[in-house]
Amino acid sequence: MERIVYMDNAATTPVDPLVVEEMKPFFTEQFANPMTYMHSSMGDVAYTAVENARQRVAALIGSHPEQVIFTSGGTEADNWVLKGTLERATRERLHKPGHLVTTEFEHHAILHSALALQRQGYDVTFVKVGHEGIVDPDDVRRAMRPTTVLVSVMHANNEIGTIQPIAEIARVAHEHGALMHTDAVQTTAHIPVDVDALGVDFLSISAHKFNGPKGVGILFVRDHGALYPFIDGGGQEWGLRGSTHNVPGIVGLGKAAQLGRERLPGELKRLTGLRDMLLDKLSSRIDGIAVNGDMKQRVPQNLNIRIDGIDNEPLLLAMNEAALIAAGGSACTALETVPSHVLTSIGCSLTEAKASIRLSFGYFTTEQDIEYAADVIPGLVRFLRAMA
Ligand SMILES: Cc1ncc(COP(=O)(O)O)c(C=O)c1O
Repeated sequence: MERIVYMDNAATTPVDPLVVEEMKPFFTEQFANPMTYMHSSMGDVAYTAVENARQRVAALIGSHPEQVIFTSGGTEADNWVLKGTLERATRERLHKPGHLVTTEFEHHAILHSALALQRQGYDVTFVKVGHEGIVDPDDVRRAMRPTTVLVSVMHANNEIGTIQPIAEIARVAHEHGALMHTDAVQTTAHIPVDVDALGVDFLSISAHKFNGPKGVGILFVRDHGALYPFIDGGGQEWGLRGSTHNVPGIVGLGKAAQLGRERLPGELKRLTGLRDMLLDKLSSRIDGIAVNGDMKQRVPQNLNIRIDGIDNEPLLLAMNEAALIAAGGSACTALETVPSHVLTSIGCSLTEAKASIRLSFGYFTTEQDIEYAADVIPGLVRFLRAMA
């Protein structure tokens, strides 16, 4: 197989071989249902593996294990926290529609859940985002109402990688008697994520963004009583999330969490260095490059640039032909040609949004990959500009 230089790790990452090895026995040999642990030694093996994974995830985010509730990924965790908290507070406390505060540049897992709530009669405020891609806690403060149940602001944006002042926003939420959620899908295992330091009541994680398997994640739930279950069923996860545990997936998430925790300090430094090296090289070889979003308050694995006079679609296709994979808008809207809502939310024009590409790195990105991208992209840009 030809070597592919993969720079779309914000969309998904390859599963680490060490993670695959740890998952393997749970497909064929240790396939028991963990809930049978009371009467079966095989069940006990599966149960122990699930609880071990829960502890590893808890260690990664600084929580208690019982606050880690396994889900089918980031999308489910995001849907659940918005709908579960709004519904519960509205029925049991407010007796009138609760209010949600979120932002304009969230992932669609949040945006579309918020729109679904709005259709059902709940109130939602979408706070604007500054030009640097950072939410101002004072804007959140101005959005608060006596009926605000939940504030949900992502820890780092999936397209431009900007890190949000979550601890400050959480203080605003709590001062107004509201709960605080952050979608930490793009930060967990990439920068330090500690639920107490962030001051959050809920936090979403997805395994496939840090070399774990797809289809598994968690919602950190500080207080089990703060939301209704999203999936009713057989009482798994303290009755909060029914369905037989995805044991191989959960084991894989646990291993990825353990590896992520060990690797974090080194990777933070290494990827920051590689990212800055790529930006330096591209800036010196291409005129008319600008970075979308603040460069300092940014996760190490993200570079989002706009290139004057370029349409990202032909550029990405040409890069793909050169075995260099990157992204334009977010992966979930890859089939649409609409410009990214994130870039327009930070004030980019439609043309600027269409001129932007996201290069995102991961554990398997090497300096050689960076050199390759820095060699290939300028030539393609020159070619496309000449054709325009
Ligand atoms: C910020 C953010 N939230 C949520 C998700 C969805 O996670 P999952 O793919 O596990 O459903 C993603 C994935 O693209 C994401 O980047």
